[in-house]
Amino acid sequence: LGFYTGAEDGYLYCDSMRVEDIRHKVPESPFYLYSWNRIAHNFAEYKKALSGLDNLPCYAVKANNNLVIMKQLAAAGAGAVLVSGNELKLAMKAGFDPKRTILNGNGKLPWELELAAEMGVNINIDSEFDLENIAAAARKTGKKVSVLLRINPDVDPQVHSYVSTGLASSKFGIRNSHIKWFLDEIRKEPLLELVGVHSHLGSTITKVNIFRDAAVIMCDFVKMIRAEGFQLKYLNIGGGLGIDYSHQGQVLPTPTDLIDTVRDIVKELGLTLVIEPGRSMVATGSTLVNTVTGVKTNGNKNFIVIDGSMATLIRPSLYGAYQHIELTKPHNTPVQTFDVVGPICESGDYLGKDRELATPSKGDGIVVHDAGAYCMSMASNYNLKMKPAEYMVENGALRKIRHEETLEQHLSVFEGL
Ligand code: LLP
Repeated sequence: LGFYTGAEDGYLYCDSMRVEDIRHKVPESPFYLYSWNRIAHNFAEYKKALSGLDNLPCYAVKANNNLVIMKQLAAAGAGAVLVSGNELKLAMKAGFDPKRTILNGNGKLPWELELAAEMGVNINIDSEFDLENIAAAARKTGKKVSVLLRINPDVDPQVHSYVSTGLASSKFGIRNSHIKWFLDEIRKEPLLELVGVHSHLGSTITKVNIFRDAAVIMCDFVKMIRAEGFQLKYLNIGGGLGIDYSHQGQVLPTPTDLIDTVRDIVKELGLTLVIEPGRSMVATGSTLVNTVTGVKTNGNKNFIVIDGSMATLIRPSLYGAYQHIELTKPHNTPVQTFDVVGPICESGDYLGKDRELATPSKGDGIVVHDAGAYCMSMASNYNLKMKPAEYMVENGALRKIRHEETLEQHLSVFEGL
């Protein structure tokens, strides 16, 4: 299932297919390669974990917005959490049920809120001005809007500061002391119906007690809000479960560990549990497949230069994130320590540092693992690199699920030539 090194032949596999064989069939490089089985399995693990509770698993589309993947997740029964009007349009195209969809964000624009109101999507309230804008969108469209309060519980998720969102000093959500003001405002607006509370602490979280701490705090809010006369339906604990990027057999909490740590709270309150996983749904479902352009040594540093780059996959450059790197076939060449770098004109353009790898040759295949989340969705056109093609293995067959972008498409945006 998914990506693994064949125990007998040392080749890298995607499900039952050798990645080396796939590379020779695929004309583009680099390209993202997906295992649908792996993604379906990850979602099934969440479904299993949630059984026995009223539940709504919402896939965080920001992690990966390939329309084929979104369609298949919608068909498998996922809801969606969205952060822009364009994600919302895509989610509707993918067939997500608006009632099982939430628009979230700290800077939602009027047109995005009006679209969400029109479609009947749930909306998170992030701030005072956001509530004003949501009420205005409800009045303009004449639609009743279901809203959730995004509460900032001030719990430290113990992750990189760029992906930490639930601390008092973060730009997201509402701090405790203001809740009553929000309740009064919502009461005044007949088109708004308060249906739940939401918190999202951060991403790459590796300890479930952090979710429990937040749920305990949220539980008090639910009781207080109900005492004010509101019928709440949803407790949304956000996303954030990490994965083992190290490939060192790190034991991390599973979806079942996560759900079981809040199960009693949800039951006691008689609420529907909403979760918003992104990374843990799709990260392990993809690798970025690259080609070695050449190998060089400068001073005492060895470099493998590949065709993928920070434009294709920015997480190492942006967060210093570790993503495991592997050659697609076995080599008998000397193992050396390499930096794996791209062709972009910046020293920050690297995919991996100090990696022990067999010395590859020009044209060999080399992959960056766990590339299903926040990789393609964060790709850019820097240095005029075109966003890469995407392929998927499903039931033993390979299919293309996205074309490589072309320079012609890119040129079509210019005016006044
Ligand atoms: N819900 C909300 C409100 C979020 O802000 C996020 C992610 C999620 C759910 C999904 O979290 P996940 O299960 O994927 O951890 N670009 C960064 C990650 C940014 C996460 C932003 N929010 C990275 O590459 O690590």
